[in-house]
Amino acid sequence: MKKEELQALLQDMTLEEKVGQMIQIRANMLTEGGIVTGPTNHVSLSEKELALTGSILGKIGAEELAKVQKEQMEKQPHHIPMLFMYDVINGLETIFPIPLAQGCTFSPELVEEASAVSARESAAAGLHVTFSPMVDLVRDARWGRVMESNGEDTYLNCQMAKAYVRGYQGQLGELSKNDKVAACLKHFAAYGYPEGGREYDNVEISERSLRQDFLPAYEATIKENCKLAMTSFNTINRVPASGNKWLMREVLRKEMGFEGVLISDFSAVEELVIHGIAEDARAAAKLAIEAGVDIDMVSSAYIEHLADLIRSGEVEERLVDEAVMRILNLKNDLGLFENPFKYIDESGEQEVILCKEHRDAARRMAEASFVLLKNEEILPLVKTEKKQVAYIGPYAETHALHGTWSFPQDENRSVSIRQGIEKKKITNVVFAQGCYMLKAGDATRLGKNDVYEQEQNEKWMTEAVEVARHSEKVVLCLGEANHQSGECGSRVNLQIPEIQMELFRRVRQVNSNIITVLFCGRPLDTTEISKLSRALLVVWMPGTEGGSAIANVLYGDVAPQGKLSMSFPRHAGQEPIYYNHLMTGRPDIVGGRVGFKHGYIDESCYPLYPFGYGLSYTTFEYSPVKLSSGIVSKEDTIRASVTLKNVGSCRATETVQLYIRDVAASVARPVKELKGFQKITLEPEQSIEVAFDITEEMLRFYDIDMNYRSESGKFQVFIGGHSDTQNVAEFVLEV
Ligand code: GLC
Repeated sequence: MKKEELQALLQDMTLEEKVGQMIQIRANMLTEGGIVTGPTNHVSLSEKELALTGSILGKIGAEELAKVQKEQMEKQPHHIPMLFMYDVINGLETIFPIPLAQGCTFSPELVEEASAVSARESAAAGLHVTFSPMVDLVRDARWGRVMESNGEDTYLNCQMAKAYVRGYQGQLGELSKNDKVAACLKHFAAYGYPEGGREYDNVEISERSLRQDFLPAYEATIKENCKLAMTSFNTINRVPASGNKWLMREVLRKEMGFEGVLISDFSAVEELVIHGIAEDARAAAKLAIEAGVDIDMVSSAYIEHLADLIRSGEVEERLVDEAVMRILNLKNDLGLFENPFKYIDESGEQEVILCKEHRDAARRMAEASFVLLKNEEILPLVKTEKKQVAYIGPYAETHALHGTWSFPQDENRSVSIRQGIEKKKITNVVFAQGCYMLKAGDATRLGKNDVYEQEQNEKWMTEAVEVARHSEKVVLCLGEANHQSGECGSRVNLQIPEIQMELFRRVRQVNSNIITVLFCGRPLDTTEISKLSRALLVVWMPGTEGGSAIANVLYGDVAPQGKLSMSFPRHAGQEPIYYNHLMTGRPDIVGGRVGFKHGYIDESCYPLYPFGYGLSYTTFEYSPVKLSSGIVSKEDTIRASVTLKNVGSCRATETVQLYIRDVAASVARPVKELKGFQKITLEPEQSIEVAFDITEEMLRFYDIDMNYRSESGKFQVFIGGHSDTQNVAEFVLEV
């Protein structure tokens, strides 16, 4: 449709019709089935209101959605097509590693490929919009949704955020293609830093930190033309996002230039009442429309009160017209007015879903996301091990290798570790369950875990210890249950489940050749298993091809290359813990615990494994940092370089990282900040120069007066394989 046609359509709509476009309901209010991703609430709509609803969430399936679209358009007075939205966070049926693992690939290319695969499967299943990417910066592993983020670094998050949008939406103008879907940045804003890591809790941060660290990744998606944005549940400095006019109209729309559709999170509009900034749902609706929320997801506020607020003159109809025009523009950009069924090609759905090309993409990303944290010359394994290798633990044979924001129709279509090993025709391996994933009563999101029988567990444990006793090496496949992270997955205890620690200790008593393959949706306290394992490989929640990828890495067909996107603590009590912290006035440089130093008396203030850390099967050597100049002016570019050499025995990939520290400025600056990275693959004995260009723009920050600019002075440049690198050189900026 042309712009003037859309304008004419808007003019011809009644107020009820306009409000209907601003309503999103759960799919199961219109059709059978679908997922429900929030508290079921009391919202009930009349037949007339249902007929006017502009969008639904939580349902997939080309055939069923075609039926819903047909029925709805017949009832809608102007036959306006609906929007179908869904949480495709890390794949639809071909499930990719969780986004926290995707961050560990340091590969925007792999993220863009994964998002394009997800878009293809989503569109084939009849979807128009995915509620992704989640680009909330995170620093506290106690929060369950760190699994859904790309980690603790702003620069890395920005690179990944852009890649997600490109993958989902394609290049400008490609959105109307039938294998692209609209992306939705979320959760605006700063949902990833709740007090205490407690789900939905208050976010109290300075405007300087908000702008410096937490907002850039959202803005990066907007620069990539992201079509939707979602409000966050949390308060930001005591004002809930969905009623936060400054955040939405001043920052998101005016400063960042966002012109897309702003949708609330699940029932977040009426939750303004519970937050205590609205007396009732009517007042909540007024706050939300004034803040610029275009679509009310699943709450009753807009449907029950918005038309009345307009008729009473308390809200200008202009605000509703602007919101509806943004929604009509989105439907138009998707090409739905020309062909409301363009996505719905039942035959395509079956050909596309889980096709080999998609599975290969998922396996390659999983392989690149694994992080080798320790290896005392026990990995890689050889396929023809002379003596038995035992695979023990609740993750050794399960297919549940995906994160909580994955809704596979059939999880058995994913590859287990056992299947991955057997596909490679490896001899001399045995498998043992070892124990239950969790014990009865272990806390999980949305409820307790009750499947547990003591005798069965003891039988498994005893068998596993015997198997370990008679094996040369043991691969312990352990970790958090996938439903111990995700939304409503905050934890105070960052250990793997106690029942699995018991298995670990009993096996370790009879066999010290332990390789631990760790599944998790967040950084865990791995202090004990790190100490007592000869190797520790973090595989996160690797998705559909997890078993294949793990087998390939364990047996050296692919060398591990992942680098931590989030710091691993020594103890949960250290959280929040992140690498780009401030120096403080009494830094604990040597990790001591006495004297007047920053930190704790009973634990180091440094992580067990820092951001950016990850080993390979080879060794990389870095030359000292070289700078093209020691003094640089505003217009200049300074080149920082190292020579990287593979001094080991196998081909491998290293992520070379560039960090910069502003040594003295008008406000305290972090000890270092990631400003660039390059993935380099080298053969044994091969070396190469790796160079980064540093510009004045990379040195800007919010100064004492909240101006975003650089300041003259000394800077340190670090180049290395992790954020703890001390390979450093200095230069002076003269602006
Ligand atoms: C959930 C999540 C949000 C998701 C939405 C719709 O509560 O916070 O990320 O997209 O509801 O499922």
